[in-house]
Amino acid sequence: MADSDHSRLSVAVVDVSSGHETEFLALAAEFEVVLARAGYGRAHVVRDEAEPRRFYVVRFWVSAEAAEQCHADVKVRAVTSRFYQIARVTHVVNGVRRPESLRPLMDDRRARVEPDRRAGFERRTRNLVLPEGERRSSGDRRLGPRRLRDRPGTIDLVGAARRAREHADAAFSRFKVGAALETADGVVLTGCNIENATYGLTICAERLAMFKALSEGHRGFTRMAIVADTDAPTPPCGACRQILWEFGGNLEILLANMTAETGRHRLKDLLPLPFDARLL
Ligand code: THU
Repeated sequence: MADSDHSRLSVAVVDVSSGHETEFLALAAEFEVVLARAGYGRAHVVRDEAEPRRFYVVRFWVSAEAAEQCHADVKVRAVTSRFYQIARVTHVVNGVRRPESLRPLMDDRRARVEPDRRAGFERRTRNLVLPEGERRSSGDRRLGPRRLRDRPGTIDLVGAARRAREHADAAFSRFKVGAALETADGVVLTGCNIENATYGLTICAERLAMFKALSEGHRGFTRMAIVADTDAPTPPCGACRQILWEFGGNLEILLANMTAETGRHRLKDLLPLPFDARLL
């Protein structure tokens, strides 16, 4: 296309859930129209000949700025969040480098062509973390379900994990943990540890949050907060690191206790030399 800069190309592989193909094609058409009308660029959806429920969403951006605006556009977000409900979206090429100020924690390499083929890593879309000062204050005491649709990066994730911890059932260890997982489109799913008399069937807060998210169709994740009532940081156990890596990729992990943040890590630093789908 004449008015687009072809170096600004993004490609996502979309695996549509069975029975949702028609809905996906309608959404894709809507997406193409929204992008073209707003002048961000063009989107083309190509079906994979070999895999009937696999599509490639190719976007040619007019400019990096247009791509930025597109990502922030509420109309676009409304469509893309519906994509995430019916499909697994894997971003394989991101031709747009976002300014550092907008994504201070994004792994730089992911802004270029994504060479990584790990199942979990790919599922994460991008980090949308705003500077500290722009987050909602920890005074937020919303009641009700712990699934809070919000703008990514503006969520008080530690606060959500603290509240989730209140529901922990740790009758045997007395060690209560809360976790809050943020999806790329700003939904928060929480978990707490649940123990039982066999001990061994205990589920940790982190895995519970991740499994809740996956079971409700979420696929792209940005951050997880983990809270315990200890002075020393409580990092995720080995089993949780594995699951978080495979399904969440290189998440930002925020550790906190009841009053303060106690650590911040990238998951790849907590799980060096991981075993994952690339090795199968
Ligand atoms: N636990 C978690 O839920 N997450 C962690 O990061 C560490 C451990 C739980 C499991 C068990 O119920 C209790 O804490 C003590 O190990």
